[in-house]
Amino acid sequence: MRSPADCGSVMVRVPGKINLALCSGPRRPDGYHDLVTVFQAVSVYDDVTAEHAPPGEISIEVTGQRASAVPIGPDNLAWRAAARLAAWAGLEHRVGVRLLIEKDIPVTGGMAGGSADAAGALLACATLWGVEIDQPALAGLGAELGADVPFCLLGGTALGVNRGDLLTPVLSRGSYHWLLALDERGLSTPTVFAKFDQLTPPGTQLMRAEEGVCDSLAKGDAELLGKALVNDLQPAAFNLRPDLAELHRCGLELGALGAVVSGSGPTVAFLCLDESAAIELSVKLSSEGRGGNLRRVHGPVPGARILG
Ligand code: C5P
Repeated sequence: MRSPADCGSVMVRVPGKINLALCSGPRRPDGYHDLVTVFQAVSVYDDVTAEHAPPGEISIEVTGQRASAVPIGPDNLAWRAAARLAAWAGLEHRVGVRLLIEKDIPVTGGMAGGSADAAGALLACATLWGVEIDQPALAGLGAELGADVPFCLLGGTALGVNRGDLLTPVLSRGSYHWLLALDERGLSTPTVFAKFDQLTPPGTQLMRAEEGVCDSLAKGDAELLGKALVNDLQPAAFNLRPDLAELHRCGLELGALGAVVSGSGPTVAFLCLDESAAIELSVKLSSEGRGGNLRRVHGPVPGARILG
């Protein structure tokens, strides 16, 4: 890491994610669910800039889409990330930070936007303050903040177990083209997990179903991947928002190779053969009146990285 004297500010770019497979067990005593998930980082990014502030001060400013829906105090995971890192380094009374978050990852969209900001804040603050911390320790702090934070630091394609926070990189050939259907209304992750609990018969155990996804990625076969996409939270998201089920069906009928709700939703990700197929699908969905807020992305892309 650079020394604090080297830089007046540090900007970090962090990607959002799609879950290509998300298999969930029942609720654990700590309120979380055991997951087996395959993450892919995709080309939609938040930029987190850290600037020195008076010792003990942490402030946040958010710009970009739906910025007003993002908290700017200790409820913001990025705020907590800065505070946690300062405490870890024993610097609480010696450092401060002003965090500027430029949001492009959908807010409460099931794409780890809040976790991405926490990952960005950890890396930006560590660099700004000259904190000596290695990647595993940074990921450990990230996991304390939120289950998806370690993946936002790592990026690429990875298998996540436990709460989704224990990661192993997954072999993935080629690049995958997605059309994302974004939804302004957002869906709360705890609400979707609660609906999942309600819909799951008692005694149901975690059923791993990620093998098809991992095989298709190893082969670099988008058509196979389209058929293998799986998300145990999808029925819960559809139950809460039946319009998402309609959208999902419509995208498949119009030629997507596969479709899946990303994480807890409401973003629906349509897999396409290539960029022109993604453009074609977006035109068709729009002409069916379902083109509200469509976004083309590709993955995998790298995790949190310092831009300058
Ligand atoms: O860890 P994070 O803050 O991202 O999780 C948000 C919420 O999602 C948790 O409070 C919990 O309700 C739910 N969750 C879960 N099991 C997981 C991950 C998240 O129940 N493995």
